Amino acid sequence: MSQRSCLSVILAAGEGTRMKSALPKVLHQIAGLPMVAHVVKAAEAAGASGLALVIGHGADEMRKAAAKFAPKAETFEQEKRLGTAHAVIAAREAISKGYDDVLVMFGDTPLIDADALTLARRRLAEGAAVVVIGFRPPNPTGYGRLIEKDGKLTAIREEKDCSEEEKKIGFCNAGMMAVAGAHALKLLDAVGNENAKGEYYLTDIVEIASAQNLDVVATEASFESALGINNRAELAQAEAIWQQRRRHDAMLSGVTLIAPETVFFSHDTEIGADTIVEPNVWFGPGVRIASGAKIHAFSHIEGATIASNCDVGPFARLRPGADLRNKAKVGNFCEVKQAVIEDGAKVNHLTYIGDARVGAGANIGAGTITCNYDGYSKFFTDIGAGAFIGSNSSLVAPVTIGNGGYIASGSVITESVPDDALAFGRARQKTIPGKGKELRERFASAAAAKKKAAGADH
Ligand code: UD1
Ligand code: CA
Repeated sequence: MSQRSCLSVILAAGEGTRMKSALPKVLHQIAGLPMVAHVVKAAEAAGASGLALVIGHGADEMRKAAAKFAPKAETFEQEKRLGTAHAVIAAREAISKGYDDVLVMFGDTPLIDADALTLARRRLAEGAAVVVIGFRPPNPTGYGRLIEKDGKLTAIREEKDCSEEEKKIGFCNAGMMAVAGAHALKLLDAVGNENAKGEYYLTDIVEIASAQNLDVVATEASFESALGINNRAELAQAEAIWQQRRRHDAMLSGVTLIAPETVFFSHDTEIGADTIVEPNVWFGPGVRIASGAKIHAFSHIEGATIASNCDVGPFARLRPGADLRNKAKVGNFCEVKQAVIEDGAKVNHLTYIGDARVGAGANIGAGTITCNYDGYSKFFTDIGAGAFIGSNSSLVAPVTIGNGGYIASGSVITESVPDDALAFGRARQKTIPGKGKELRERFASAAAAKKKAAGADH
């Protein structure tokens, strides 16, 4: 089958009014990726080399987004929404290139898995002209019903056109189809719009193909993989299913999740074996974790690279460009952005490291701040290997601390410090014997005099 060429036509012209959103429906995200991009991924995983995206509502925004998540896709604008068959025909130019298989998919069915598509393609390879992907929803209301006879699919009847008897059928149209490229346009062009909604129904190609004695069959997919998203409650439901699948995969690949239901992955999270993730951790996009890391509770991580055996959190925030090398440690209430924390370096408590390098084995004391921004530009802080930054220091960038440099606690460092030097950036302490007691007595008698004066006023 691998030698059969395949085009995926993804329908995404609809308005999605029930999302109540300025954003086109299919651009709403699941695991940080637009739902239509999940559909594209499934199509590619099932072997589609051609991608045709049918857009309409919010076309400009869709084109812009598609250039990012599917740069190879061709977009086709369906000017008027006259039905699913009409939408597929909008991609006529792509279909007429002569692919062996045409997969018709919906942009709002993000959990479709590649296996269901591959199975449908296999039936085409075996000689079917049309393969409909069916499923059995708990409540079939609203779905097209699959009418079968002797193992063959003879028709799909939309709910509005069903008889009472047909409404009792539980096997429904998930919406997606695989059509033999050789027949696709001929079948689509034969579709009319004499039905309850006055639309050109893609589903009509089933009856048309059957009448021509072509082989038409249905395959069955899981309810989850056919879940269509129409509102934000269904969006959250799809997110939950996606997360559940991803957690399961992570655990089977050797990652310990102590409370899996509280850990949230992104579409592209990479996480190596023997990593332990404690409860309540959020992975935003662009996170790569090698093996043996510990991610402690309540950490928020995005755009970060974490090498082997690092220790992160609890309550750590790693932002884009955080690059932790082997055995680095970023502890509680620390934020790291666009900074390399080299091997074995420690940033343990209440610290902000931004636009910086922290050299191997350096120790960053509690409350250290890299002052990287003057309100207009960002500046770099370079901290050498083995440096020691005393607690509550401000490193005002641009500034360099040499290898083995030693910064006294509470310093404000504005000038670079050479290798192995000690730097104080604070006022020298002055201690006056007995002065504390003297002050206390003076303040006490002043307060008593004031109270007495206030009493005399009455
Ligand atoms: C469709 C199926 C129905 C199936 C259901 C599964 C048809 C006629 N009906 O019904 O059998 O049970 O999906 O969810 O196919 N679209 C366009 N342009 C159009 C019309 C639709 O791009 O002119 C897109 C929509 O954006 C959507 C998809 O096609 O992504 C499905 O259209 P929709 O109107 O939701 O079809 P259903 O009525 O749900
Ligand atoms: Ca729908």
